[in-house]
Amino acid sequence: MDELQKKIASLDKDRIPVHVAMIMDGNGRWAKRQGFERSDGHAEGVSTVHRVTKMSSDLGIKYLTLYAFSTENWNRPQAEVDTLMYLIGWAIERELPELLENNVRIHLLGDIERIPEEPRKRLFYARDTTAHCTGLQLNMCLSYSSRWEITEAARQLARMAAEGKINPDEISEQVFSNHLTTAGIPDPDLLIRTGGEERISNYLLWQIAYSELYFTPVLWPDFSNEEYVDAILDFQNRERRFGKTSEQVQNNE
Ligand code: FPP
Repeated sequence: MDELQKKIASLDKDRIPVHVAMIMDGNGRWAKRQGFERSDGHAEGVSTVHRVTKMSSDLGIKYLTLYAFSTENWNRPQAEVDTLMYLIGWAIERELPELLENNVRIHLLGDIERIPEEPRKRLFYARDTTAHCTGLQLNMCLSYSSRWEITEAARQLARMAAEGKINPDEISEQVFSNHLTTAGIPDPDLLIRTGGEERISNYLLWQIAYSELYFTPVLWPDFSNEEYVDAILDFQNRERRFGKTSEQVQNNE
């Protein structure tokens, strides 16, 4: 048994996180360290996306949510934006057969209409072609930011209230959640950020209220399956209290 297999065997199979969210940071620095262009770092990052998707599927994780392109990323140099858009379209098309083989369903979160037509068509095609899949759901956040999403939800609800379709007193946390792009998806149990920064960067702010956060200095292209399993082992060693006391949690109250 190699190191990875030993680590996987030591996981508590009854406490695999249902939903893992990831901030894939460090592609640019990885490329710079190798003397490459930033775009080479993003291309290498796609291999990590492939790896973590397969691993998540093999471990029985139900939802994997990846921050592939933020609303703020539109402000990067145009050449880098173009490369990322090209890569996303190319990668989704290339990966589609294997996604289908592994029963992975693609779901898109964000202001997808802002994505250029060519990659957008490929993304919609992958989403529609995998719609019947019942294994891992891969949520790709594209042109996504949490404040954008929360503002959109507020706007929708305000419009409904103005039209008399909803009573403002009926707007509960549950109703609000149902107007977020993640409606119907359970909140992440674990959020992993690679690349050494310890911040949330406008990602799933509402949804991570009780998520366990895991930060690693490893740059995204170097994020290996071993490191992924380490993050899950770390998660399994934490006590999730959701505001209760340790005694209440241990007594299953
Ligand atoms: C952050 O690294 C990474 C991104 C902005 C893009 C992540 C996208 C990919 C890995 C490709 C996505 C493809 C699919 C199919 C989902 P950075 O450029 O901010 O790195 P730095 O902090 O070192 O500069």
